[in-house]
Amino acid sequence: MLIKHKKRSDCSENEVTDQSVYLNRRQFMKVTGGTALGLGFGNAFAALQSGNPLSPAQPLQAAFDRVIETPYGKDETPAPYDVTSSYNNFYEFGYGKGDPAKRAGSLETRPWTITVEGEADVTGVFDLDDIIKESLLEERIYRLRCVEAWSLVVPWIGIPLADVLKKFKPTSKAKYVYFETLYDPKQMPEQRGGSIDWPYREGLRIDEAMNPLALLSVGMYGSVLPNQNGAPVRLVVPWKYGFKSIKSIVKIRFVESMPITTWSTLAPNEYGFYANVNPEVDHPRWSQKEERRLPSGVLFPNVIETQMFNGYTDEVASLYAGMDLKRNY
Ligand code: MTE
Repeated sequence: MLIKHKKRSDCSENEVTDQSVYLNRRQFMKVTGGTALGLGFGNAFAALQSGNPLSPAQPLQAAFDRVIETPYGKDETPAPYDVTSSYNNFYEFGYGKGDPAKRAGSLETRPWTITVEGEADVTGVFDLDDIIKESLLEERIYRLRCVEAWSLVVPWIGIPLADVLKKFKPTSKAKYVYFETLYDPKQMPEQRGGSIDWPYREGLRIDEAMNPLALLSVGMYGSVLPNQNGAPVRLVVPWKYGFKSIKSIVKIRFVESMPITTWSTLAPNEYGFYANVNPEVDHPRWSQKEERRLPSGVLFPNVIETQMFNGYTDEVASLYAGMDLKRNY
């Protein structure tokens, strides 16, 4: 894997610098390399029609039948489904971009419960389908910008995170929300070893979590999430680097202090708690000024400029008023 920084336009698919380089460098695990993508520019609509094989299970059909259209991202062109579902980071299933699609298929996503604990009046174990059935699902087309400097546009389906969190009535002590992915080494092969202190952990400040942009996603491209994209439920926090958007969530904990998170613990000088998309703050090993917008290949690198807060400044800048974003990266 490439560590030396090149001009983005010089990068080909199989030499992308990514988070797993950090792990590789420390020889904690094997890194298989990115899959060659080599895709041209597809017509998103053709892809939407051709690609998505997943329909919701019967009890959820009603919820998916009445997904609300929203104005979010109406001017964006979603990546073809096949790209979004084959170029993934889901380290529980491997470190190559194609590994999750190959290996996550057998993850059992039903029944699925979420344990809610900590500083809230309503805590306990909740069935995900009950949460979905009593919510209105929305479609939101968001840009997802990975810290590795690639990005793509995804039509997510989900519930505003604030709507879900408010059901649990967080107390005034709930200053942060902590999230945890499933820990099940039988189903998630990379959890049997390696360097990551599983389960994958993430967190948001409570006002970030309550921001209207934050989404608890249960689907994409009109149907349920494929396992490799974080089924059955994941966060989508579009103004932050993709690693904040934790997949396959089984635990939500309301806490008073900033929680420990996977990447900020593994490499604190490279990945911070806030992880807001910021072209002015380079990763120590590469620039964050540009990104490869997928689909991208050797012939069409499709490199674009990265925008502050991934282009969501109007919606989120007030969350960070007075904060030094170079220090709080
Ligand atoms: N969540 C878990 N549990 N494990 C992971 O490895 N990778 C993160 C994030 N959520 C990850 C995760 C990273 S680095 C990114 S960029 C996004 O998922 C990728 O989401 P996608 O594969 O749906 O594009």
